[in-house]
Amino acid sequence: MTDTSTPTSPALDPTASAPLFDATTVADAAAIVARYPVARSALLPMLHLVQSVQGCVSLAGIAFCADQLDLTTAEVSAVATFYTMYKRTPCGEHLVSVCTNTLCAVLGGDAIYAAVRAELGEQDAPLGHEQTAGEPGTPGSLTLEHAECLAACDLAPVLQVNYEFYDNQTPEGAVALVRALRAGDRPAPTRGAPLTDFRDASRQLAGFFDRPGDVAGPSASPETLRGNTIAAEHGWSAPSMPPEHVIPPVPEKKP
Ligand code: FES
Repeated sequence: MTDTSTPTSPALDPTASAPLFDATTVADAAAIVARYPVARSALLPMLHLVQSVQGCVSLAGIAFCADQLDLTTAEVSAVATFYTMYKRTPCGEHLVSVCTNTLCAVLGGDAIYAAVRAELGEQDAPLGHEQTAGEPGTPGSLTLEHAECLAACDLAPVLQVNYEFYDNQTPEGAVALVRALRAGDRPAPTRGAPLTDFRDASRQLAGFFDRPGDVAGPSASPETLRGNTIAAEHGWSAPSMPPEHVIPPVPEKKP
């Protein structure tokens, strides 16, 4: 089933009377603020925190951030709507991001995206960008998006699940991956941390790592390190900066 409707859950209604963000979330918000000399600097992780609670950044989440950071809701909205990592509607258990930028596209990214759209959609109605297969937040639900360059062009074509990489993909491999996710499996990413779910990944992005090994795993691939490897084999190194080089002072900020 594909859910593309506007969310109506009470959890997303800013006028609902039940507290959306409990005492634990308020304490976590305070811990985030304490990391920074100025409270407003905590906005990005704060948005990830509210996303970890609701699976998106709702109007209530924006109001919560504004309240915690002494900002206006307009200021928070301006940031939340600028970055694509903050979702306006609830995500599925997993977020699948297929890179369709130039290099991935010509190496098969467009075909991968088309195959995953068809797999997750219904007959004659492929799933669209930022649409969800299944009921958002329930086990096996998947939100699909096409993404701009995911900074892994040396391993193209790539896709991510909850921002973990699956490198050197094919349409068949990508379809097998989303089938496994729909069935409740969590295939290991090619590199990086073990796969969790979207809300948990959002909590990690807010800076909370609740289990040992949350972010364990190799993050660099041999392909990415190839230049370093060749340099090391040949004893090459970059020239150091001449000692007489003067670094110009940073201009003062205008008040
Ligand atoms: S174009 Fe896909 S990772 Fe760069």
